[in-house]
Formats: sequence, structure tokens, C-alpha cells
Amino acid sequence: MPVYHLKLSKKGIKGAKIALLPGDPARVPVIASSINKAEAAEIAWNREFRTWGSKIGRHPVVVTSTGIGGPSTSIVVEELALLGIETFIRVGTTGAIQPSIRAGDVVITTASVRIDGASEHFAPLAYPAVSDYYVLNALVEAASSMKIPCHIGITASSATFYQGQERTDTFSGYVIRDLSGSKKEWERLGVLNYEMESATLLTMCNAMGLRAGCITGVISERSKKEKIIETMIRTAEGNAISVAVEAVKRLLSIF
Ligand code: URA
Repeated sequence: MPVYHLKLSKKGIKGAKIALLPGDPARVPVIASSINKAEAAEIAWNREFRTWGSKIGRHPVVVTSTGIGGPSTSIVVEELALLGIETFIRVGTTGAIQPSIRAGDVVITTASVRIDGASEHFAPLAYPAVSDYYVLNALVEAASSMKIPCHIGITASSATFYQGQERTDTFSGYVIRDLSGSKKEWERLGVLNYEMESATLLTMCNAMGLRAGCITGVISERSKKEKIIETMIRTAEGNAISVAVEAVKRLLSIF
């Protein structure tokens, strides 16, 4: 029986134990092909959840899009775990909030600030959203071996793109009192970046005895200006994908 949302079955994922998770369905074939073009093929696509399979050596690897945010990410992780996936790496994009981080660089998340909402359905807020040591290490070693500019640290993982990341270029221009000043505060507390899925991913994986990590490519420099730097999206995504694929190779050699 295929799982409800992903429309995938155990047979379809061919015993894969590791999954790469972009947000965007359009990135799924790109990632599967960069793992191994000859083996890359679509397995299923339902709503925002698109899955391709690929292979590293004899090891099957799955790539599934999560859509945007914690709720849809939790569905993907839940259903892939039911099919036997044990290790998850988010590969996405992010907005930097430290002035030293440049568009095109990558951020490797050690832990996430849990302002995502969905993670509270897996563990109380006092429980940390931390990356798995081995996944983190593989990502850091991969980035350093490839000489890709990389920042390692804490990510703020927000339920919303606009208000939760204190954007004011919105319809109302209004940010509620609880969130006003939050960007400055996270910056002051050394948080590197904003994205929208890692807190859910890391919390639920730790709570369920699964491994997870997160790498994101920087597409906005929020300390300087609010806008997404569209000309840097391909570079940022490309860098994050290259590092994630190399990290999967390293993980497959130790698990
Ligand atoms: N993703 C986010 O959540 N925020 C950004 O600024 C860019 C990408």
C-alpha cells in the first residue's frame, strides 16, 4: 500500500535508507540527477510532494520535496520513515541575518530556534532541535573539502516567511509586538539565518530516533537589504546541493 500523501511504496524506494529533502518540487530532478544522472528517475508526485530515486554505487537514495514549512515537512518525514528511511538531509535556501554571510554561501545548521509551530507536536519547546552529529560532520567535511564558503551555527526556523522573519514589505506592513525586534535579537544572539523547515525536521527526527541535518544556500542578505537576490539563487542552490550530495556519499561509507 502506498503511503497516503507521498503515493510511495517500499517497493518504489528500493530499500533506500537516506533521503535528501528540498522544499521545491522543481529541485528534485536536479538533485537526483546530480547524484547519478543515469539512475535518476521519478517515482511519484502528489501535490507538493515529488519523489525521485537515484543511486550512489549500489546504494539507493531518495529525493523528496517537502513543500514550504513545518506541517508539510512533518508529513514527508513521517511517511518516508514508515517506508524505512532513517537519515534525512534538508537542502534548501535561506536568508542570512549576520552581515558577514554573503549570498551564494551555504549555512550548515547545528541547531534551530523552534519558532516553527509544528515541532511542538513532537516534543515540548524545552527539547532542543539539534542536528545529528554524523550528518553535521559529513556536511561540514563535504563543504570544507569542496572549498565552498560555509557558515556553521544556529538557524531560526520560522512558521512564516514574512511576519515570523520580521519582514515589513508586506500587505499590512505590520509585525505584531511579540515579533517586533526579533530579527535584531536573533542577530545579536548569534543566529545565522532564517528558513522554515529545519526545526520541525530536527525535532521530530531526534524525538523518533532518526538522523537529520540541514544545509541551505543563502539567497538574501537581510542585514543589508530585504529583497531576495534572485541572481544568486542558482549559485546558492547549486552550492547547497553539491555539498549535500558529497555528504550523502560520506554517510553511506560509514552507515
Ligand atoms: N527562505 C526563508 O525562509 N527566508 C529567506 O529569507 C530566504 C529563504
